[in-house]
Amino acid sequence: MYNFEYKNPVKILFGKESISKLAGEIPQNATILMTYGGGSIKRTGVYDQVMAALKGCNITEFGGIEANPHYETCMKAVQVVKEKKADFLLAVGGGSVLDATKFIAAAALFENGDPWDILAAGAQVEQALPLGAVLTLPATGSEMNGNSVITRAERQEKKAFGSPLVMPQFSVLDPECVFTLPDRQVANGVVDAFVHVMEQYLTYNVNSPLQDRLAESILTTLVEEGPKVLAERKNYDAAANFMWCATMALNGMIAVGVPQDWSTHIIGHELTAFHGIDHGRTLAIVLPGVMHIKRENKKDKILQYGERIWDIKDGDADERVDAIIARTVEFFESLGVPCTLPEYDVPETTIDKIVERFKQSEAKFGEKQDMDYLEIEQILRNRL
Ligand code: NZQ
Ligand code: ZN
Repeated sequence: MYNFEYKNPVKILFGKESISKLAGEIPQNATILMTYGGGSIKRTGVYDQVMAALKGCNITEFGGIEANPHYETCMKAVQVVKEKKADFLLAVGGGSVLDATKFIAAAALFENGDPWDILAAGAQVEQALPLGAVLTLPATGSEMNGNSVITRAERQEKKAFGSPLVMPQFSVLDPECVFTLPDRQVANGVVDAFVHVMEQYLTYNVNSPLQDRLAESILTTLVEEGPKVLAERKNYDAAANFMWCATMALNGMIAVGVPQDWSTHIIGHELTAFHGIDHGRTLAIVLPGVMHIKRENKKDKILQYGERIWDIKDGDADERVDAIIARTVEFFESLGVPCTLPEYDVPETTIDKIVERFKQSEAKFGEKQDMDYLEIEQILRNRL
């Protein structure tokens, strides 16, 4: 196992009616900017619950944050923060609203030039406004980490940054929020959480059986509970288990002491940037290609995953790897998530654009930092 340092200060308020506890988490004299998305919170009743919990507080609202949040929208919110002198941000929504709010928190206090540099040039975040979250969609893990992914629409660029300074002070997780999710968002969330685990697990062995089993327990639970949530949206226990799986998948716990991949996400972000495909769906497309091309690097872990999650034990190693990839695809498809590019009408020219971008960047990816643009091209062509 590798050396590591781990600190996660996010307070989680989990369970039914937990939104009512909000007021106790925000300083009483705070000037709050509440951020939200396209309006689902008004239809679902979450908005009313938040307003009831924060009755008497000084709140300004900023709605309209889109899925795959735009830099341009975030910068409008930064203006509002400055005008209203907001000193606490409350994100109410899915991963997009949380990510946008993290960027707003950092950009509002950024003094070293253009805030886009935080995303595009790795500019250091030295301060950020405090923020809290009410999560309405289990998927990203954003509620318990310091990551944020923002899109610059005009340039078709989707970029990430991370800083402990934008970890929420608290996140409210009420599983009843799952009850109003459309099938597509449930399926996206299950796949996203599943692939977060895979990025931190499906690498190579460093003798870390606890991290392996933690990862496998999240995968198994998602395989069991995901279909239940899809079939029965108001099954509270299934919703609660799904929600906690998504948080545990990306709060840093299973990442400690082990190698990490993230190539599926890096390639997936380009499919969203150029073709607008939902984040979770991009992962379902790319992961099978990564498993196929990196079957040697990842062989031991793929075989372990296949045996422990899918009970695949027969055949020689190559046959088993093929069967394991097929079983993974079958699981995603069973949730209603297609796994090939033609099913999303992605033209070959989009592959060319993505490959060209990776070629220009000269960066390498994967747990061994050995995946270049030529392999990325093979991965994408494998998904045609
Ligand atoms: O915008 P509203 O009207 O709120 O509707 C949303 C949106 O249309 C809707 N929704 C959310 N909660 C709902 C609901 N509808 C009914 N009932 C509810 N309870 O769902 C739609 C999708 O929401 P979004 O926030 O975009 O989805 P998700 O949580 O999957 O977030 C995706 C974003 O997170 C990033 C992705 O790249 C993408 O931009 N990620 C963030 C990560 C992180 N911070 O650690 C890691 C991930 O890998 C990911 O990259
Ligand atoms: Zn993800």
